[in-house]
Amino acid sequence: MTRSARLAGIGSFLPSCLVPNAQLAARMDTSDEWIRTRTGIRQRYFAEPGTTTSDLAAEAGARAMKSAGLAEVDAVVLATTTPDRPCPATAPVVAAKLGLAGRPAFDVQAVCTGFVYALATACGLLAMGCVDTVLVIGAETFSTILNPADRATSVIFGDGAGAMVLRSGQAAGNGAVGNGAVGPFDLGSDGTGQDLITVRAGGAEQRRSGSAPAPGDEYFSMAGREVFRQAVEHMAQSARAVLGQVGWQAGDIDWLACHQANLRILVRLADVLGIPEARVLANIAEVGNTSAASIPLAIDQAYRAGRFKAGDRLLLSAFGGGLTWGSTVLTWPDLTHP
Ligand code: UT7
Repeated sequence: MTRSARLAGIGSFLPSCLVPNAQLAARMDTSDEWIRTRTGIRQRYFAEPGTTTSDLAAEAGARAMKSAGLAEVDAVVLATTTPDRPCPATAPVVAAKLGLAGRPAFDVQAVCTGFVYALATACGLLAMGCVDTVLVIGAETFSTILNPADRATSVIFGDGAGAMVLRSGQAAGNGAVGNGAVGPFDLGSDGTGQDLITVRAGGAEQRRSGSAPAPGDEYFSMAGREVFRQAVEHMAQSARAVLGQVGWQAGDIDWLACHQANLRILVRLADVLGIPEARVLANIAEVGNTSAASIPLAIDQAYRAGRFKAGDRLLLSAFGGGLTWGSTVLTWPDLTHP
């Protein structure tokens, strides 16, 4: 028997400021129709002034701990691209807000793949016996890095947070046996694509250049069409790799729980993998693309809507800046604290 990671609780949190497409169309050259047909998004939520990523993360984390029936956890891993500050990491702040000061806490930066990377990191901590419980959070305030002059990105992203509590368990063989089991993982990156999804200013590269940032470089930018193509390709390849590791076929998957980048990407990916559209979790219409928060947010909303039964097999896959990609599988547990 080897130590494995099991899902023990889940939660999510959305900020209160609802932004429908029409509100964006009133201040930039876009339309509700363009946004809906090209992305599937109808609305998103933005954090109100004064609310930061750590606030959203702490709320989602508290809900996940409540769902797990735990008042404390041994470690906090936070996936985010919008930390409260460039330095230090935001996870220790989240831990302190949750009354967990003193516990290990650190950030993982893999943009929209962040939650899958953070889950893998947490599984490693559990497998090594470093800790017995980990709070894994994906949280973003992407509204703070969107360029108001860039309609191509401003209409896509939203703020939010999702979290899972993992606890150690025993697993035989490939680790994916039994309700609640998380893993194995397939992870990858290709830094030659760093310009496709980026914030150019504010890091060592720009500061060392000796030049002031060019206008707009402090904001997030994305080469949408090329990213779309690579997202489908890499997520399909990665999802197949993890299915191969665990010995499952596409037909064994009850739910495709992917990063909510674009509804057209979700539909295309399901088609490529041979998974019926009815098994695709999609909440992008209501929340937009919430980057590292999107997978736990989509899973938590589906869970609270009563869509899962114990033993359901979920395939998680994500693609994002870096470039990065990753996939894993999760067998739905019997959660006793809904
Ligand atoms: O989450 C991390 C990973 N991210 C992704 O996977 C996102 C992947 N990419 C996408 O989802 C899509 O590429 C976008 C939604 C970003 C863009 O959709 P698209 O169908 O690829 O559009 P496009 O960039 O090829 O642009 C088509 C047209 C252009 O006009 P012209 O050149 O054809 O005249 C754009 O200027 O649509 C225009 N356009 C807009 N029009 C109205 C771009 N953004 C908008 C907008 N409203 N908001």
